[in-house]
Amino acid sequence: MAILVAGGAGYIGAHVVRMLQQRGERVVVVDDLSTGEATRIGEAKLVKMDIADQSSVAVLTRVMFDEDVTAVIHFAARKQVGESMEKPTWYYQQNVGGLANMLQSMQEADVKQMIFSSSAAVYGMPPTQIVQEDVQKHPINPYGETKLIGEWMMADCERAWGLKWIGLRYFNVAGAGWDDLADPAVLNLVPMVLDRLARGQRPKIFGTDYPTPDGTCIRDYIHIMDLADAHLHALDLVAADAKLPHNVFNVGTGEGTSVREIVDGIAIVSGLAFEAEEQGRRPGDPPQLIGDTTRINTDLGWEAKNGVKEILESAWQAWQAGPRQIDVTDFHME
Ligand code: UFG
Repeated sequence: MAILVAGGAGYIGAHVVRMLQQRGERVVVVDDLSTGEATRIGEAKLVKMDIADQSSVAVLTRVMFDEDVTAVIHFAARKQVGESMEKPTWYYQQNVGGLANMLQSMQEADVKQMIFSSSAAVYGMPPTQIVQEDVQKHPINPYGETKLIGEWMMADCERAWGLKWIGLRYFNVAGAGWDDLADPAVLNLVPMVLDRLARGQRPKIFGTDYPTPDGTCIRDYIHIMDLADAHLHALDLVAADAKLPHNVFNVGTGEGTSVREIVDGIAIVSGLAFEAEEQGRRPGDPPQLIGDTTRINTDLGWEAKNGVKEILESAWQAWQAGPRQIDVTDFHME
């Protein structure tokens, strides 16, 4: 028996792969290595392929039969909001097409358990302060649209051939569980701040005039290890014989933290003295996005164990263990 992890060499996928291995599961990783690295998956078997290519169905189906796959955890997707606005059709091809190929292969190989990486981006600009899963969803970019369509596709497969699935709607993921699995991309607030500091530049704050207590945007930051752990809880629930009470779950903490608090927190954990550079608003940013976690607490018996302090400490430690270490004793800004 094996778990197939699509996108298992990426930031989140590799954390889940290692956690699965630590509890003794056999893991097969499918990844195109476009952003992931083969060194991150340990002993797992790697099948290097682009699942969005139509030819992938035959290969995936064969892998599922040969490796006796019982469940799929599907991370493989493009995830840059701005890029999705510029290349919408490519996002549909990659995210929707890739998932369609995976689901078709699962049907052919009779694999009926699926955990899917969804996103808080399905909510767009939610009408409530703290967002519940059942609120109306109006994604405001193709990235969020592809994630919502992914949820619909799995619901359709559930009706058609009995797929058992859970979609986890991630809020703002950050931190590292192991230094060698740190987020290699510089696309989100925490790595963007660290990247600027490593260049001797002042980190940027996009917008200080939002209707929030300190004027900067508020997000729900979730530690990568808590997020990874949520996947194991979800996997165990779909593997159990019971009927699922719900299919989609917010994965957050229910707590909000402002951009300024994150930037100040990085100054504290790093010991670096710096002032952020205040800029205008970044288009498309909702002022506040916090997930109601009641459903995942109740149905999956999961809750986040780490807060922002642990997130920032682990991100800083992993950054300093990596190739672009910041010299704390000789730190100066441009
Ligand atoms: N920000 C800054 N300075 C930076 C980088 C970001 O002020 O250098 C701000 C952003 O403007 C935003 C906040 O920090 O207000 C968080 O920005 P991120 O880019 O880290 O994250 P987002 O909340 O924009 O996006 C995240 C995921 C997306 C997902 C979305 C769901 O990265 O994949 O949550 O809402 F779609």
